[in-house]
Amino acid sequence: MSISSIGVIGAGTMGHGITQAFATSGFEVRMVDVSDDALHRGMKAIEKSLERLVSKDKLSAADRDAAMKRISTATDLSALKACDLVVEAATEKESLKLDIFKQLGGLCREDAILASNTSSISLTRIAAATPNPERVVGMHFFNPVPVMKLVEVVRALQTSDAVVETVEKLARDVGKEPVPVKDSPGFVANRILVPMINEAVFVYADGLAKPEEIDTVMKLGANHPIGPLALADLIGLDVCLEVMKVLHDGLGDPKYRPAPLLAQMVDAGYLGRKTGQGFYDYQ
Ligand code: CAA
Repeated sequence: MSISSIGVIGAGTMGHGITQAFATSGFEVRMVDVSDDALHRGMKAIEKSLERLVSKDKLSAADRDAAMKRISTATDLSALKACDLVVEAATEKESLKLDIFKQLGGLCREDAILASNTSSISLTRIAAATPNPERVVGMHFFNPVPVMKLVEVVRALQTSDAVVETVEKLARDVGKEPVPVKDSPGFVANRILVPMINEAVFVYADGLAKPEEIDTVMKLGANHPIGPLALADLIGLDVCLEVMKVLHDGLGDPKYRPAPLLAQMVDAGYLGRKTGQGFYDYQ
């Protein structure tokens, strides 16, 4: 099926990044969040990111203005009724996502594709919350969305081949590289990446080295663009902790035990860049 109008649920880091990627590629996008405040912050972040691209001559001012015009916002899910495809990028909580998909199932056209940007929650359970589970699929983008090329296309047990093909084509149309993966806790990227971050937290908690030293080891010794603790701050410590819990519960292997310090920092509200404090101070 052909996709022209797209809905994005969530105006946070991932939601506004995904909205921007679609809008700069010529799609009409409606971004929905629960409050006008959240939508305002999301639109400001898109403006800032587009400005960055214009200042580096990667985007013309006319294309920036056209992209901004393609984005509309709303605070009610019913605004997504006519969309060909909806990408949900709400908070990483299973009960919230199940509720959203239940609502979308009753709201959207029967042939509309319902995608989730979940980084670890079971797509098969999300699909089961809708009346047409074969049209539910994972479309997992990476942060920062304007820069990162990968989209994991996650196939739930129920997802149809046609839906996977459509979403793979859409990912290519927005300049990304789709990789099909099966539904399993953490899929492929986060099953490998987040335990590495978790291990870096254990290394820090064990007093082996300071955060900047741990990050330098991985940047200079393994050629990572940023170190694991700086990456945790970029992703959000709350998201990292949720992914570890999903891996631990879903795979039942103690090797996925979340680092106690990670849980403690989340309890303290030290979530990384988005709160101004994580393993580094951003104030
Ligand atoms: N919008 C537009 N452009 C952006 C941007 C944004 N939000 N963020 C960075 N950029 C651009 C910069 O403008 C810059 O462009 P030029 O090369 O033209 O100068 C380029 O990206 C590099 O940025 P910086 O020079 O500011 O900084 P950097 O070299 O450290 O790169 C980075 C920043 C791209 C984020 C790099 O540090 C990196 O690749 N980090 C790893 C990111 C990563 O692993 N992401 C995956 C997270 S896991 C995830 O998202 C999945 C999940 O479910 C948890």
